[in-house]
Amino acid sequence: MKKRKGIILAGGSATRLYPLTLAISKQIMPVYDKPMIYYPLSVLMEADIRETLIISTPRDIEIFKQLLGNGSKFGMHFEYKVQEKPKGLADAFIVGADFIGNDNVAMILGDNMFYGNNLCKILKRANEREDEATIFGYYVKDPTAYGVVEIDKDGNAISIEEKPNNPKSHYAVPGLYFYTNDVVDIAKNIQPSKRGEIEITSVNAEYMKKGKLKVEKLGRAMTWFDTGTHDSLLETASFVQTIEKRQGMQICCPEETAFRKGWISTEELYSSAQKCIKTEYGKFLNDLAENKV
Ligand code: TTP
Repeated sequence: MKKRKGIILAGGSATRLYPLTLAISKQIMPVYDKPMIYYPLSVLMEADIRETLIISTPRDIEIFKQLLGNGSKFGMHFEYKVQEKPKGLADAFIVGADFIGNDNVAMILGDNMFYGNNLCKILKRANEREDEATIFGYYVKDPTAYGVVEIDKDGNAISIEEKPNNPKSHYAVPGLYFYTNDVVDIAKNIQPSKRGEIEITSVNAEYMKKGKLKVEKLGRAMTWFDTGTHDSLLETASFVQTIEKRQGMQICCPEETAFRKGWISTEELYSSAQKCIKTEYGKFLNDLAENKV
């Protein structure tokens, strides 16, 4: 299978979270018990992606290096790149062009979290599609604030619009995209939109024109949050707290995924557990290392 690398886009201006984010990155904010970026990171890991580029602002990139390092604690390899200005989501493929090289790529937004039963299967299907792009469709009551995709019976996108007033479907497009290597060239040729951004919807429209844009529906049992406002940040945190307390399990825990996939040893897991042993997070890792979960 053709290799696929990952990108976490964790820059932006985060004005909808002011004053929280006046001096610090949105994607470092706590979502209950862990930094926000752990959630998208664990999704890439579930998709078996081990080489990942983290893109953030000149102000914030250092904090991610401090948090995540070279990735070895998760059995991964991380690289870092600055996006000088928030030019749009598709800019990730221009900023990340050297990192992507000749490989395929999956990009996830640093403020998106996914959780649900079939996620691994769906990610596997997207990952195995080597010559077509895959985006996702999540049914929402009011999709006008999102990219909206219309899907045919074979799972092909037949229309895609950014924040339409009269949406053609109820399927919002979450911030997770699987692309072929030509995404770099596609992104380089996109003209900025009226709001001055190189839009991911334009990238998707280009794939659709070529008949190469597949859509995986995320069923109603799947949870997708984007944590970009005060309310959604708190709602996501409450969701995580509710499930974790009830089950005694972790949601989107990178160390757990790394361990279950055999990317880190029991000793490495144990060492991560000890660092946060005063917390339920650390105790969970410890139990995992001792085979009690
Ligand atoms: P948005 O939520 O659309 O924008 P934002 O984070 O800048 O927030 P606000 O609207 O409150 O000002 O961005 C989605 C994600 O993409 C988020 O994780 C930030 C990231 N992003 C970048 O890293 N670079 C960019 O150029 C843009 C537009 C977004």
